[in-house]
Amino acid sequence: MTAHINIREVSKTYPPAKRGGSAVEAVRSVSVDVAKGEILGVVGYSGAGKSTLVRLINALEPVSSGSIEIDGVDITSLKSRQQREMRRGIGMIFQRFNLLRSRTVAGNVSYAL
Ligand SMILES: Nc1ncnc2c1ncn2[C@@H]1O[C@H](COP(=O)(O)OP(=O)(O)OP(=O)(O)O)[C@@H](O)[C@H]1O
Ligand SMILES: [Mg+2]
Repeated sequence: MTAHINIREVSKTYPPAKRGGSAVEAVRSVSVDVAKGEILGVVGYSGAGKSTLVRLINALEPVSSGSIEIDGVDITSLKSRQQREMRRGIGMIFQRFNLLRSRTVAGNVSYAL
């Protein structure tokens, strides 16, 4: 199943890890509208905020500001139970682990699906 994803003016700042540390602005004012069935690639340097953006879309991290609508539902304002429910419909392949060497990139993706 595919979905319409509408990201509006989303920002994410991680709070300082320890006292006296500094906050990290990982995502600043990102707006992107992904149509149902559209395939979008996000490209950027290491540390640009790509993984953070993905974690915001599946609500593994709360946004600092802005809104994310999936099929018209603002997921940033869902209760955690509803977020868990919603996450069941979203596939995510992690960057560093749980990949099968014996499969191609496409093979790893289709395995998760
Ligand atoms: N949990 C966290 N707490 C604090 N800072 C974080 C956290 N996760 C990521 N960051 C910081 O946020 C910024 C964006 O990181 P992110 O992992 O989203 O980048 P990325 O584009 O996925 O990089 P890569 O290409 O290396 O995977 C970086 O400065 C990173 O150090
Ligand atoms: Mg990443």
